[in-house]
Amino acid sequence: MPRVLVVDDEPSILSVLNTLLKAHNHDVTPARSGEAALTLLQQNSFDLMISDIRMGGMNGMQLLAQARKLYPNMAVIMLTAYGTVETAVDAMKEGAFDYVTKPFKVDELLITVQRALQYHHLLSENVALKEELAGRYRFEHIVAESPGMRKVCEMIERVAPTDTTVLVLGESGTGKELVAKAIHAYSARKMKNFLPINCAALPEPLLESEMFGHVKGAFTGATANKEGLFEAAAGGTIFLDEIGSMPMSIQANLLRVLQDKEIRRVGSNENVPINVRVLAATNDRLERLIEQGKLREDLYYRFSVISIEIPPLRERTEDILPLIQHVLRRELGDKQPLPQLDPEAQLIMEQYNWPGNVRELENTIRHALAFAKEGRITQNVLPAKIVEAVANLGTHAERRAASMDEFRGKSLKAFLRKKEKEYLSLVISAKGGDKEKAAKALKISLATLYRKIPEETE
Ligand SMILES: Nc1ncnc2c1ncn2[C@@H]1O[C@H](COP(=O)(O)OP(=O)(O)OP(=O)(O)O)[C@@H](O)[C@H]1O
Ligand SMILES: [Mg+2]
Repeated sequence: MPRVLVVDDEPSILSVLNTLLKAHNHDVTPARSGEAALTLLQQNSFDLMISDIRMGGMNGMQLLAQARKLYPNMAVIMLTAYGTVETAVDAMKEGAFDYVTKPFKVDELLITVQRALQYHHLLSENVALKEELAGRYRFEHIVAESPGMRKVCEMIERVAPTDTTVLVLGESGTGKELVAKAIHAYSARKMKNFLPINCAALPEPLLESEMFGHVKGAFTGATANKEGLFEAAAGGTIFLDEIGSMPMSIQANLLRVLQDKEIRRVGSNENVPINVRVLAATNDRLERLIEQGKLREDLYYRFSVISIEIPPLRERTEDILPLIQHVLRRELGDKQPLPQLDPEAQLIMEQYNWPGNVRELENTIRHALAFAKEGRITQNVLPAKIVEAVANLGTHAERRAASMDEFRGKSLKAFLRKKEKEYLSLVISAKGGDKEKAAKALKISLATLYRKIPEETE
């Protein structure tokens, strides 16, 4: 049922409109003044507002302006006394859908109401459509064909509008900074700074002053007051890259900053309130850093409330071809045609295991572009390292297959016995040929070891 707000300071008109629209299946809310209408608008949304222009207090034009601000897509019909049509035309310029002159004919009013509601419906459909489109192409700069990367994008969408700390995990070159930037770009802080800082790049005292600032004379060389990144990012986002390399003393400081939302410049006694969102990234296993005593456990808990893990490129081969196209397009700009990618070259790139992930892929494409001839990317223009690695991969697989060949048709027992012998010899030689030590390491008796490895196989 369409929701209609009817505004008139004349009770008789209000009552007529109320009865008429209710009879035609509209959900009607009457208001006796512009002020009353505005209060209702602030509490509820309506599909249509019908308002008198001339009213005591807030008049129809003022109400229209306020209503347009609150609901740009709501349809508005103005009621105007005969002879004040000019004002009604002004109202349409201000965004009213139409006007009806008083006294009105019932049919005429109902038709206008219907058209207005249709218009409103179309508009809101259009908005929904636009939002859907925007959603689908939201992360146009992030290639995400694989289920793994789609999940990453969903997470970005989900966490971006919140103000929580997010930890981005992934091997080097997987796109951790890209993801952090996207979180910032889709948050309410997007108009403010996104400031990255690499915790591994600076020695401890410099990192501290870089993050929190310092006052003049705080240490040798501190010749003036300096604002730290936490202050510089005011209202924005700070991105702590390689958090696993942050010195312990700074970790303690950081924890306090996150809890109290204020910082103290190095050498100062004064607390400065800060308003930043903190994102962090690492390619280390944080649990291992805790074990090694390189990461405070309380900081870890603080950071790992929400984490986004980016899978390595070799685990999402669906992304490789789209990434190649994406990088080619970015390198060549919109005007130039993309070079042709030879099927062998494509296959090699799809089979390679990309230890440097997307960054390595980018470098590979740049390399290929520099050497490409006649608009073609063939395997000859790929870095030799990659072509060789893939070729070896082939022979390695072949070798494995060949080594399996000798067991074809033999029992599992025969296979296990052979492997067991291989392992035992390995341990014995690791212990410098000392079988007693080897047996101990293997947690078996020396007798068992001798039984399993007859003298001649030593
Ligand atoms: N899914 C993706 N779509 C498009 N470009 C990507 C994607 N992932 C990474 N990139 C690009 O790869 C490069 C490396 O990404 P980024 O610097 O974010 O990785 P990182 O994980 O922070 O690397 P490092 O661990 O080395 O700091 C950037 O140029 C980035 O734009
Ligand atoms: Mg990075």
